[in-house]
Amino acid sequence: MRFSNRLEYCRQWRQIADKLVLIFKCLLAREYARACIQVLAGTCFSIRSGQGFLISDHFAETMNTVVGITGASGIVYGVRLLEELPPTKTVIASDDAQKIAKLELGISGKEIRELADFHYANDDMYSPLASGSVRFDSFVIAPCSTSTMSKIAAGISDNLITRIASVALKERRKLVLLLRETPLSTIHLSNMERLSQAGAIIMPASPAFYPRPRSVDEMVDFVVGRVLDELGVDNDLYARWKGVTPSTRSRGSRRTHR
Ligand SMILES: Cc1cc2nc3c(=O)[nH]c(=O)nc-3n(C[C@H](O)[C@H](O)[C@H](O)COP(=O)(O)O)c2cc1C
Repeated sequence: MRFSNRLEYCRQWRQIADKLVLIFKCLLAREYARACIQVLAGTCFSIRSGQGFLISDHFAETMNTVVGITGASGIVYGVRLLEELPPTKTVIASDDAQKIAKLELGISGKEIRELADFHYANDDMYSPLASGSVRFDSFVIAPCSTSTMSKIAAGISDNLITRIASVALKERRKLVLLLRETPLSTIHLSNMERLSQAGAIIMPASPAFYPRPRSVDEMVDFVVGRVLDELGVDNDLYARWKGVTPSTRSRGSRRTHR
């Protein structure tokens, strides 16, 4: 190779090396900028909430409800609950919940996630919610499968939903299980009793008929309204019982008149 050719060859290699260095510097700068933004945001949030760490701060400001949706029939309960809950709401839907959502409502997991302010995957055991150090007010599982309910009763925390339930029980936070199954086995019943004694609120997804529901939506809203009542959320999703005046009380007949 002639000297001039070799010089040109070296010059080309130098240009390539310079470009690589530039790309590397850009990547470093981008990471540095991202780190700075995170530190800045973390400081602001920490000052506002008086908390020491950023990652959990969205669980410290307003009412924080976490909703778990599991693979029982009645995914509509979880969906309506998310629609009616005030911020801040976080959702975790199990794999079976997402499949049954498609089957029962024709909606995807993405559409469920969009109803909440935050969402986590059920296998994300590194979510801040997996730790008792992160505050939330209530955890509602709606609908709750007997499988998930039984795991919680046995103290099993094999996914994020069962882990958060376990955290709620140990930290004495509100845990509501909107169970959907019928009939119930003795094992289910004893697990429900165990959980109730540990502080969980067991709510069978069981609509009432005294408000004389005219549609499935009204029956769903009755159940969701009762869940909201448990959480202390004002709602008029269902007609509350106002008592019976003597004139409307039926005499002798056991038939109901509509
Ligand atoms: C269409 C369909 C409906 C189901 N309905 C119920 C139900 O109402 N209650 C229940 O306990 N399990 C029900 N199951 C079974 C649960 O999906 C199953 O036990 C699953 O493992 C629950 O997992 P998960 O609690 O992690 O979502 C149903 C399953 C299918 C496919």
